[in-house]
Amino acid sequence: MDHTLHIVGNRFPLATVPQRKLPDEWLDEKLRDLVHLGAGLEAPGEGTFLAKPWTLLKLTCLRYYVPVYLNILRGRFERLAFVDLFSAAGASIYQQEDLRTVVPGSSVIAADGANHGLENALGFDELVAIDLSAENLAALERNLRKWGFDRDRNLFLIQSESARLAKVVGKHLSERPRTHALVFADADALEPPFEALRAIVKAHDAVDLVLLHLVSGAAMANSPEALSRFYGCTTPVKPDRESLSRLYVQQLEQALRPRADPGRSTVVEKVRITGGSGMGGYCYDLVFAWRETMGGTPFAAAIRSLRSKVESLTGDDVRHIMSTVCGSQRRLDRRED
Ligand SMILES: C[S@@+](CC[C@H](N)C(=O)[O-])C[C@H]1O[C@@H](n2cnc3c(N)ncnc32)[C@H](O)[C@@H]1O
Repeated sequence: MDHTLHIVGNRFPLATVPQRKLPDEWLDEKLRDLVHLGAGLEAPGEGTFLAKPWTLLKLTCLRYYVPVYLNILRGRFERLAFVDLFSAAGASIYQQEDLRTVVPGSSVIAADGANHGLENALGFDELVAIDLSAENLAALERNLRKWGFDRDRNLFLIQSESARLAKVVGKHLSERPRTHALVFADADALEPPFEALRAIVKAHDAVDLVLLHLVSGAAMANSPEALSRFYGCTTPVKPDRESLSRLYVQQLEQALRPRADPGRSTVVEKVRITGGSGMGGYCYDLVFAWRETMGGTPFAAAIRSLRSKVESLTGDDVRHIMSTVCGSQRRLDRRED
């Protein structure tokens, strides 16, 4: 008997038809994986960066995206680099009532790459981490040894203020002609200055960006000068969430458009990450931006799939699931809530 499902010309055995997971099942799996990856990492000292529930949603997005990026671009470029503009230490503390655990940071997620433990494991050839704090960078160096990243061989640590990003990152990438770079920027304020992004994408054609765009009220309360520095232009007199979000997308599309080939399209996609109850509407967008290559890139489909999961979740779901993931509480069935 033919146990095959026929789908527009393709034949999938029934057993291999992927089952769609509900967003909270999906998140449960992703948070377990994050906690597992964070085990044994050195978190920075007291008083530095603490991961919040929505931080874990952001890290989940990056953890999802890194293998997509590596799988698509590995065969197309000689070298792949991850450039972490605000790297911190590669690990941070997540705290919730009596639960305290270490979670991996962006550079560790990049270092872990894709297809873990398999023969065809995929990874970045180099990591470039920039941070204001020398202490963070020293801890990051120790954290990344486990993944075979060593200082000045395939790990470049740059202690720098964001005002110098354009210079230091632009210079680093302009010296790497056959390299594609995934540039990640996750600051906890209106950073980086847009001028730095312009300089980076000008210095290097083969760049994709993943940027955090704060769209909470606190971000909008910044001075007009701080907003202009972040957006790279003057901003509306009465800035609101959606117009600033649109402005950031427009600015990125314009910055990425290659002068020599204005017909080549640029793509900007957003995934909104929401704080949850008691957060006064706190949210931010994770913005993915890239220049299309000749054959097109199937990133957009992956981001749409990510968005469909993440935008139906909030920091409250993270809190709920983390309490079971970390075993501090009996598993609760949300449908009984
Ligand atoms: C939100 S944390 C980054 C978290 C990190 N991406 C992770 O996944 O763990 C922001 C980092 O930016 C650094 N930072 C803050 N302001 C900065 C500035 N003006 N220039 C450079 N680095 C800055 C801080 O030291 C901090 O480590």
